[in-house]
Amino acid sequence: MAEGHRRLVAVSNRVGPLNDEGKAGGLAVGLSDALKRRGGLWFGWSGNTSSKGTFSEATTEVEGNVAMATIDMSEEELQGFYYGYANRSLWPLLHYRLDLAEFDRQSDRIYRSVNQRFAARLAPMLDDSDLVWMHDYHFFYMGSELRQCGFKGKIGFFLHIPFCSPEIFTALPSSHDIVRAMLAYDVIGFQTDTDRRNFANFCVRELNGQKLPGHRLQVGDRIIVADTFPIGIDAPGYARFAVSPEAGEHEEMVREIAGDRLQIIGVDRMDYSKGLVERFRGFERLLEEYPENRGTVQFLQVAPLSRSELGAYVELRRELEELAGHINGRFATLDWTPLQIMTRGFTRRALAGIYRAARACLVTPLRDGMNLVAKEYIAAQDSDDPGVLILSRFAGAKAELPDALIVNPYSTDDVARAIQRALTMPLDERRRRWETMRDAVFHGTAAHWCDSFLDRLERSGRDEDGPAGE
Ligand code: ADP
Ligand code: G6P
Repeated sequence: MAEGHRRLVAVSNRVGPLNDEGKAGGLAVGLSDALKRRGGLWFGWSGNTSSKGTFSEATTEVEGNVAMATIDMSEEELQGFYYGYANRSLWPLLHYRLDLAEFDRQSDRIYRSVNQRFAARLAPMLDDSDLVWMHDYHFFYMGSELRQCGFKGKIGFFLHIPFCSPEIFTALPSSHDIVRAMLAYDVIGFQTDTDRRNFANFCVRELNGQKLPGHRLQVGDRIIVADTFPIGIDAPGYARFAVSPEAGEHEEMVREIAGDRLQIIGVDRMDYSKGLVERFRGFERLLEEYPENRGTVQFLQVAPLSRSELGAYVELRRELEELAGHINGRFATLDWTPLQIMTRGFTRRALAGIYRAARACLVTPLRDGMNLVAKEYIAAQDSDDPGVLILSRFAGAKAELPDALIVNPYSTDDVARAIQRALTMPLDERRRRWETMRDAVFHGTAAHWCDSFLDRLERSGRDEDGPAGE
């Protein structure tokens, strides 16, 4: 951390890890890369439940320049806040899955009270000179709660997932309350221009707000900044992971098992937003329509289980296992299994090695805020024999990586064609595409994301921004 910087206080539901443990989730990866560089306090949920819940004592662990302070939730809070409102209402809604979104008063109430209690626990740890940075859909109300506690410093908010169009967001019974509460933030960051515009349009159409120059919004007498800050990875660090001994062992292992076959990889939390069912169907179509691939390609899908208490996730797992069984049953031979699905976690180094061994990586979400797997896959390749990224047009990463093979993940034929093109792409075209994407990934790093957001937060409320902090 450079001298003279204010202390950074980051708040997110999941906290850590800062080390190279396997941990599925882009927020944890992006934020830990950024925090390790700058130092500060990271505050959030311990991952545990206890009878005192959010009234429990905070536990603090210090690793290098980062202190991590966490509190428990009660079982009722976990169910209402995390499984209920955050993951049954907000997650599907913001990912355009109104069909899966459920709304109920009880979880709405608990969500608000958890935001309030997290704010009340954090407030005494703060100094008004701190830069407070809240993360993700778990904490829409927390900035306004922190203001209620008397905090006068700057507060920023970053949404790691999409912000859906106002037509969809207004289906949420508390949509107005949420966006009004968000106006307590000085700067709100989004992954893409589309997300930013959706939010601004909601403010204009639903709250009689006004768009001002410099990506500012005025609602009533409140003026805030709402801008785009695409998250990245620690690209140089990741490229070093990819040539570490642990990566090398995993790369070797995958290559040995593949033999002469071309390896295709997918790495995603097992989540319905990731388009895994559609992806498997696309792979099946490849084997139907381009039979020369039978026996000569294999597809490994790494899909760690996520939120597995929720019905939609249980159903997804059942569907994927059935589909994998169907595809293997249909095409496997004595010495070839076309598709393998694996739910275990890997360290980041091991995963980097697995990426290196793969000729193509399928990143085909139906909606995704950014998708860091796409960036990791690019950072893990080298110019000798780079693999091909197949990327959904609905992933935030598409804005920075247009040289990937862009697909419509809903189109089975489109996905099959892109895989075929990746498998047959000449080396010079693979190199050319990879070099452009590598430049983008090395330019838009986690450090760049963090610095540009915090710089905007520091500047907010000055000059053209008008009054802030009220
Ligand atoms: P999301 O945040 O929705 O999970 P991202 O693609 O942005 O999606 O981030 C996922 C992160 O989780 C990546 O950094 C990826 O490497 C990591 N990850 C996914 N699966 C595993 C796994 N099996 N083991 C370790 N890390 C994983
Ligand atoms: C996405 C979200 C994060 C979340 C992560 C893992 O990356 O943006 O906020 O932490 O998924 O999900 P989980 O529910 O296990 O925290």
